[in-house]
Amino acid sequence: MAILVTGSAGFIGSNFVLDWLAGSDEPVINLDKLTYAGNLENLASLKDNPNHIFVHGDIGDVKLVSELLEKYQPRAVVNFAAESHVDRSIHGPEDFIQTNILGTFHLLEAVRAYWQKLPSPVHGGRIEGITKADFRFLHVSTDEVYGSLTKDEPAFTETHRYEPNSPYSASKASSDHLVRAWHHTYGLPVLTTNCSNNYGPYHFPEKLIPLLIVNALAGKSLPVYGDGQQIRDWLYVKDHCSAIRCVLEKGKLGEVYNVGGWNEKANLDIVHIVCDLLDELRPMKMVSGEVVSGESKIVSGESEVVSGESKIVSGESKIVSGKSEVVSGQTRHSPLTTDHSPLSTDHSPLSTDHSPLSTYRSLITFVTDRPGHDRRYAIDARKIERELGWKPAETFETGIRKTVQWYLDNQDWVNNVLSGNYRQWVEKQYGE
Ligand code: NAD
Ligand code: DAU
Repeated sequence: MAILVTGSAGFIGSNFVLDWLAGSDEPVINLDKLTYAGNLENLASLKDNPNHIFVHGDIGDVKLVSELLEKYQPRAVVNFAAESHVDRSIHGPEDFIQTNILGTFHLLEAVRAYWQKLPSPVHGGRIEGITKADFRFLHVSTDEVYGSLTKDEPAFTETHRYEPNSPYSASKASSDHLVRAWHHTYGLPVLTTNCSNNYGPYHFPEKLIPLLIVNALAGKSLPVYGDGQQIRDWLYVKDHCSAIRCVLEKGKLGEVYNVGGWNEKANLDIVHIVCDLLDELRPMKMVSGEVVSGESKIVSGESEVVSGESKIVSGESKIVSGKSEVVSGQTRHSPLTTDHSPLSTDHSPLSTDHSPLSTYRSLITFVTDRPGHDRRYAIDARKIERELGWKPAETFETGIRKTVQWYLDNQDWVNNVLSGNYRQWVEKQYGE
């Protein structure tokens, strides 16, 4: 038997594949388009593992997906592939429509054709290999499809009305509806999970937590959108992966399972927690006009950062700070005036008046809010616990400490992302 996993060179998918192959010798066929978010370096430890079969391709390529299904006869497809960044969906929604809606549609059609041809178990009889009844299509989705909550409203349950507010969440909501319809109309054996904000190793530093860590270590500003009081529920990525394995194994066909960490926190609290952990693990010092972050040396106003022995040149980052305004002593600028590819906001801490520079909190910069920014997400994860027996293993305190430590221990991975070198990995590794 084997499973086909899409989008598994990305953040959650790569953690899923690493965990899967650490606990099983069932092969994984990994189909990924390698957009800017796909990084095969995440899976470098599987280079010599014959149970990891990487295929460079698009979920929207019906011919390719059909060939893979015929060749490997997987018992399940787990669909992580998506455009996942809300800010990018605001700048340019088209890729989100293309992959998240049309891509999911084409994937569903290829899977349906494969599934319909699988043999049905004859009553009392035995069939070699995968049968129609064994097959599963698991679609990985998000809590953002449910819209935004006020501070006092109850957390999202699986029956909460869909009210997506961003191009990203609208595209994910559309894909969820397609998956549901393919079950009701064609009987495709589907499962859907809607999860809250993940954090952990291999998280691309365009998202809040890795951006904070990477920027702080480089002495760059820590951009907080609006008043920083937006609330998210945070789940350690390995817990999300264990929830998906659990739903795949025990989930009831056609059902939706909300997955969350019972860790609601305001963004500004997250920023403070990350700063305080860095103060403890890699304290920052001020030495004659230069900020020295542990072993990292950051020279004011210049784009060259020397971190330990490695040198980071801030690659493709382009900064358009024309719209900056100063609000009560802090720099405020629109996140939409910066080019977000892949790492954007750069306000040298020394170019604004931040003193004393003895704590990473001094780098916090309030910037213009994200358009249509959802105020609060909260997940009621009681169904998956009650019906399938899953609950998270990490608390936020344990998970965030592991995460900060991982970034400190994996500066090469960070440097390859910042410099853009990770894009060369496929060529280097696979000679493509
Ligand atoms: P990511 O952006 O890190 O990774 C996405 C991966 O999908 C990349 O490897 C990319 O190359 C690949 N991909 C994109 N378009 C593709 C296509 N057309 N065909 C094949 N591969 C393609 O995303 P992530 O954070 O790992 O999220 C994975 C899934 O989980 C997404 O569906 C996302 O909506 C969902 N999700 C994410 C979170 C979170 O906090 N990150 C929370 C809940 C749900
Ligand atoms: O809720 C699940 C979703 O979580 C997933 O479906 C998405 O794929 C994933 O990207 C994530 O979406 P968010 O928009 O919540 O994640 P992000 O890390 O971009 O932002 C988290 C919060 O922090 C959000 O309220 C915006 C805010 N933020 C973000 C960035 C990048 C800032 O204040 N400053 C920043 O620089």
